[in-house]
Amino acid sequence: MAFFDETNIERFSNEGRVEGIAKVTGKGKYAAEYDLPQMCYAVLVDSKIPAGKISSIQTEIAQQVDGVLEIINYFNKQTVPGLATPEKIKESKFGLPIFHTDTIYFKGQPVAMVIATTLEDATYAASLVEVKYQASEYEVDFHKKHPTVPLQAAGKENGNIENWNPTTKFIEQEYTIEMEVHHPMEMHATIAHWKGNDRLRLFDKNQGVLTVQKTISALYDLPPKNVEVISEFVGGGFGSGLKVWPHVLAATMAAKHVKRPVKLMLTRPQMFYSVGYRPSSWQKIKIGVDQNLKFTGLIHQAKNNCAIYDPFNDRITRVSRLIYHFGHLKTEEAVVPLNLAAPTWKRGPGDATGDFAIECAIDELSYHLNIDPIKLRKMNLALDQNPDNGLQWSSNFIAEAIQIGAKKIGWNKRKPQPQAEKEGDWQIGYGMAVGMWHAGRQQASANLTLTPQGDLILRTAMTDIGTGTGTAMVNVMHESTGFPKNRIKVELGHSDLPPAKNQGGSTGLSSIVGAVHLLAEDFKKSLLKYGSTIHKEWEKLDFNSLQVTDTALNIDNYSLTLEQFFKELELEKLELEATSGPDSEREKWAFVVSAAHFCKVRVHLLTGKVVIDQLVAVVDGGSIINPKAAENQIIGAAFGGIGMALLEEQHVDSKLGTLVGHDLAGYHFAVNADGPKIDVTFINKPDPYINPNGAKGIGEVGIIGTAPAIANAIYNATGKRIRSLPITADKIL
Ligand code: MOS
Repeated sequence: MAFFDETNIERFSNEGRVEGIAKVTGKGKYAAEYDLPQMCYAVLVDSKIPAGKISSIQTEIAQQVDGVLEIINYFNKQTVPGLATPEKIKESKFGLPIFHTDTIYFKGQPVAMVIATTLEDATYAASLVEVKYQASEYEVDFHKKHPTVPLQAAGKENGNIENWNPTTKFIEQEYTIEMEVHHPMEMHATIAHWKGNDRLRLFDKNQGVLTVQKTISALYDLPPKNVEVISEFVGGGFGSGLKVWPHVLAATMAAKHVKRPVKLMLTRPQMFYSVGYRPSSWQKIKIGVDQNLKFTGLIHQAKNNCAIYDPFNDRITRVSRLIYHFGHLKTEEAVVPLNLAAPTWKRGPGDATGDFAIECAIDELSYHLNIDPIKLRKMNLALDQNPDNGLQWSSNFIAEAIQIGAKKIGWNKRKPQPQAEKEGDWQIGYGMAVGMWHAGRQQASANLTLTPQGDLILRTAMTDIGTGTGTAMVNVMHESTGFPKNRIKVELGHSDLPPAKNQGGSTGLSSIVGAVHLLAEDFKKSLLKYGSTIHKEWEKLDFNSLQVTDTALNIDNYSLTLEQFFKELELEKLELEATSGPDSEREKWAFVVSAAHFCKVRVHLLTGKVVIDQLVAVVDGGSIINPKAAENQIIGAAFGGIGMALLEEQHVDSKLGTLVGHDLAGYHFAVNADGPKIDVTFINKPDPYINPNGAKGIGEVGIIGTAPAIANAIYNATGKRIRSLPITADKIL
């Protein structure tokens, strides 16, 4: 099929992603693809030991390489004001104070940076920098260290956990998940360009330009507006772009030192320890159930690893206050500092981890009780209200989602006893799990420009990390005004544009569509108002019936060409801005986005190979703004879930204190060949209170529940209850 002839480009620009053609034709510019006059290159030199102090750094030999401009390290750096003292470092909450400490916290920590006129010179010179260390004791083994770290209360205790009904049946089990990395296709990169001493421009890969602006301007004691951040195209994030990482500051420092623009792109191996990851985790679950199949209580304990310099808590037990009425509830958490780089949020952060334990435990309990796991869930789902704060859900169609999913997978074919179905050497099994996530909405702004030529430009500072921010904006504008989609241009990811927060936590779409909806209304109102100075009768008409095209305004039987409109009003263009966010009405409701995940697996008796025959995701994300983008989002998340369940684990070598195989040959992601065609269904009923469009973000919930659905199917197939991820063949056999 020829995708790129002119007629198809027309069709794709009308139906597909607004940025799709720019991306697939290479026209879209990612952070590392900008080229500035006089630009040079920075390469980081990583620590070769996991713990200790830097005693000396020899740069003389490296300095002799052609093209080397500067080699920056702890001993010679220009101090960044926000990291000038230990107190300031603490206040900054920046994480690793790159080049502002001589302490080594992990292997791979940047200890020097070479800046040269070519990438090759910088890379070669970096290999010649000699660092001498005083090594000290370290610990990188999460499973060894976590028993020494005590748990602490996380959230309030409901009821008295010691007073469970004595007739109750219990399940009590432990669960572990190994570290998982994000690895968006586009590697993190920053180009820093100082204009004088107090104005900075950053081309940077991130999930929120204003977060970068705020962080870097604070570190340099500058007004935020002096730091311009551009992230027009972003090739995936999964959470890795929600924080500002040390390499962004490193590039900024480099550009200041050499007084030229500097590009710093992480290498693929550096991505494993420079931009966060889902931490290793341990969980213990105890659930009680009475003779009426009602849960009587839950104790959920969780620990995740963090870095010594950054106490990141993944909030693993949060999800246990969201899905079910547990009655008595006690949740405890702890973070376990190791000599590793800092973890961070990764798709479905906390909840994907916590949900794995809860949904596997409930499944296990259902087998003990000898009842259908769907039935046990249905008896206990918190369908009307948030079980933690008692607020009514704005909408929650999880019961319908479960019903649809069960039908789609053929749940009635499932044998209730494990190991009951075989096809040759393959054991067949079915499993399911529920996933939920707090549905959020943030304040967001957008503006528009309409020209007499019929070009409409929509703008916001929000980035589009591949989820379809711009496309959703076009969809909403088109639906509200009738303006043809292919005449709407979108500008995103620039800190000078109308402010919007990070694209993360499934809040991007639900926030920005509110602003665009308001903008579309203001647009129609203002066109009508202006129009009524030309046609007096328009004063009496309702703005809702105005239809705008790229050539004319149409309302009732009236039509006014854009050309005429702008001419008569003597306007060069029309400009408007709108800001919209959650109002006080919102406080009356609890918001959730939910999904039912179903899986059919085949497990090979002799090799332990797992083949996923079917994966069904039924998602209640309110109204779906763009079905194609939404389906893509869930398919991507489903593959993330397959990776989490079966493949992904970042190995750590405790003898060397290092990551093992930090490359894409040694770390296995799920690719298309690792899964079936994902069956995605949306409930597609509007949430009446989240925003005017009734649309919730679905980025997280696509992965929350996928891994336990797979693990539960593997149990049904094999009778092996595996409580540690990933479920590799050695654990099955
Ligand atoms: Mo996601 S962890 O909200 O980028």
